[in-house]
Amino acid sequence: MKKIAIATLALGLLSSNIYTEYNCYREDFPILHHKKDHNQFVFFDSGATSQKPNQVIDTVCNTYRYASANIHRGDYGLSLKSTALYEEARAKVAHFINANENEIVFTKGTSESINFLASTWGEKFLQEGDEIVITEMEHNSGLLPWIRLAERKGLVLKFIEVTPDGFLDLEQMEKVITPKTKFVGCIHTSNAIGTQNPIKRVIEAAHAVGAKVLIDGAQSVPYEKMDVRAYDMDFLVFSGHKMLAPTGIGALYIKKDVIDSVPAYQWGGGMADIIKVPFEDSIYHPAPEGLEAGTPPIVQAIGLGAAIDYLEEKIFTQPTKEYLASLCDRLITGLEKMPMVQILGAKEHLRKEGHVVAFNIKCIPAPRLAEYLDKTFNIAVRTSKHCAHMLARRLDYASSVRASFYFYNTQEEVDRLIKGVQTFIDEEFEKVIADEKINPTNCDSCMIREFA
Ligand SMILES: Cc1ncc(COP(=O)(O)O)c(C=O)c1O
Repeated sequence: MKKIAIATLALGLLSSNIYTEYNCYREDFPILHHKKDHNQFVFFDSGATSQKPNQVIDTVCNTYRYASANIHRGDYGLSLKSTALYEEARAKVAHFINANENEIVFTKGTSESINFLASTWGEKFLQEGDEIVITEMEHNSGLLPWIRLAERKGLVLKFIEVTPDGFLDLEQMEKVITPKTKFVGCIHTSNAIGTQNPIKRVIEAAHAVGAKVLIDGAQSVPYEKMDVRAYDMDFLVFSGHKMLAPTGIGALYIKKDVIDSVPAYQWGGGMADIIKVPFEDSIYHPAPEGLEAGTPPIVQAIGLGAAIDYLEEKIFTQPTKEYLASLCDRLITGLEKMPMVQILGAKEHLRKEGHVVAFNIKCIPAPRLAEYLDKTFNIAVRTSKHCAHMLARRLDYASSVRASFYFYNTQEEVDRLIKGVQTFIDEEFEKVIADEKINPTNCDSCMIREFA
């Protein structure tokens, strides 16, 4: 009994410590201090894009003020300085995920990186009849480029299925990956329901048959230290704007023994040494420079470098994942007390490893709740299928309300959301049912289908 009491006390101290540690970073985010009708702004949509700290905003502004020149093209001091800052940002990205600098290509973000790979590596190395495998959980950006490529080249596209409780079906995966499989694409953490996938197992299964693996890290790289070597990844993609950096910048990691054989995605200035006719005889810069045609997003890349500094120095030195999971736990516990609320995905898993909770109030179209939370409580949540249309079909929902957390969110904010949902049920439910002409006796399962 005594032991239990001490353990509970220790846990309590640990969690209260975690909360105070993170509160201090809110100062760095000017937007979090806005109020509407005395209601502090609550931002629960970091899964779509994160807020940006002053350190990143200042880096971007100061780069435009004092270091703005094109890169790799000028022999004067300012251009050399800008080039050095851009390449320093690449080195930071590489270090952040335990890669080498020459394995990092800057892109606009995750979607562009996946399109890049499908159009270059996929076009070159995949042949008619080859099998490619992706999961039903993919974001549409990890789905559509491969559907298009499969249709264009006559590839056989197969899917790792999702179980009704929101996990990848690993037994089915073992059957769907065969010696004919040449490529496997897997989302690390689901943006729609928050499941964190066992990518080590997926990568091992793919490598066992000689297939290359792409990991979509858009929802994992911002939340935990990633190590491409430990996982033996072939390709990793992620977006800067979801991890404190500006929009318009992302990174594509391509393993060293693959990158030199990957053709360019776009063609233009800055990539060629000697241009000849015929074209194939031209000599291009080695990767990554040879894969970045035209003026790249210079300042955005430097901003990403500043975001990585922030995460490495302040956030990843702490138990950030545990903290975010504790917010999920708090929200799930609050929502579970409301019989009208359905939570999507793997609740117990999210309590331990999540940063996203998706849910619905029975019978209520998700946008009606989101609009209410915004107007009445100044809380921003996202609704829709969250660009995961295959997953929505598999789990049979048309839309959900998604709260996605980052380290700057607090327990009090989660409590405000719980209160907002409860107040909606108490005060708005009947009105919305009448407005929308919904029959409330018909809402038992995933009623939201009706509002697709
Ligand atoms: C898992 C996942 N993959 C891909 C994307 C697309 O990222 P972007 O819009 O930055 O290209 C997102 C964005 O929400 C995502 O969450």
